Amino acid sequence: MTTSHPGGIGIIGEHRVARIGYGAMGLGHAVPQSDATAVLRRAVELGVNHIDTASFYDDGVVNRRIREALAPYRDDLVIVSKVGARAATGPVPLALAQHPADLRAAVELDLTGLGLEQIPIVNLRRADIGPGLTAEGDQVVDLDDQLAEMIALRDEGKIGAIGISNIDLNTLRRALPAGIVCVQNAYSLLNRRHEDELALCLEEDIAWAPYFPLGSAFPGFPKVAENPVVQRIAADIGASGAQVGLAWLLAHAHNTLLIAGTTSIAHLEENLAAGDLTLSAQYLAELDGIDAGLPQGDGVQPFLDEGR
Ligand SMILES: NC(=O)c1ccc[n+]([C@@H]2O[C@H](COP(=O)([O-])OP(=O)(O)OC[C@H]3O[C@@H](n4cnc5c(N)ncnc54)[C@H](OP(=O)(O)O)[C@@H]3O)[C@@H](O)[C@H]2O)c1
Repeated sequence: MTTSHPGGIGIIGEHRVARIGYGAMGLGHAVPQSDATAVLRRAVELGVNHIDTASFYDDGVVNRRIREALAPYRDDLVIVSKVGARAATGPVPLALAQHPADLRAAVELDLTGLGLEQIPIVNLRRADIGPGLTAEGDQVVDLDDQLAEMIALRDEGKIGAIGISNIDLNTLRRALPAGIVCVQNAYSLLNRRHEDELALCLEEDIAWAPYFPLGSAFPGFPKVAENPVVQRIAADIGASGAQVGLAWLLAHAHNTLLIAGTTSIAHLEENLAAGDLTLSAQYLAELDGIDAGLPQGDGVQPFLDEGR
């Protein structure tokens, strides 16, 4: 069904990874532990060696589940985490934690939660643009202060490399001298507002690991698989809408690494098999032509960001 590296091989920092990885955000307590374990093990069995997580996903539950399912880890497994938020109680289970000391505390949580001596790559999850929480008041923290802490964490060996997330072009340019190896912004076939940031990543040989590649599980974000053009092409070629959306992302830019999330083994297998799909030039042109401006509901629909 899939090759040993779903989607072929991509580069993230010093690591060669399958271009189709896995986003673990949805594997919190809403999913039975046995299901989470099964999905994670199946992903790795099928060649996934890039898993995205954060210590604040369900207050450490997701990290612990990754550890329980996959440790001792395969040598080639690249676990990527993020800092800049913390778990919180209340309707939004997440709060910003942007100060340098917060970034360090989150890395420590990752190290213990995941049971690693070094987190291979950690994204500085900025809060200057949405979707999700944006910084106000004392959470507005200078980029240089944050990067200095990330560099210190890298110098100490607690993290292997630095990525950045939720940023505009100007912030990305300012961050580049820190040695950024990957960028995570919300981006999909239906949301291409960050094309300029993607272009800069291409130019700089930086991995582009878009989040919400399928439109996310949250209401208010258009779902790629539900788009009529996507559905027509999917029916024509005998694929699913999700596969068409993921295959478009892979074809659109060679530095793209996928971290679609799923709690279902069937969806996982489908998403990995998208790496075997080749879209014709005509289909790619039609998909390129889809209106991918501001997502419907963005900024209006209450959005609980990354906590579930
Ligand atoms: N840097 C950041 O600020 C940031 C923010 C948010 C997320 N992330 C990361 O990005 C990853 C991806 O984002 P995401 O998981 O929120 O959104 P996503 O990958 O766009 O979408 C996930 C949703 O799509 C569904 N889905 C997955 N495969 C499917 C398929 N083949 N057919 C139909 N539905 C399918 C899932 O439902 P099922 O479970 O039913 O399959 C889930 O509801 C996260 O897991 C997280 O690691 C990073």
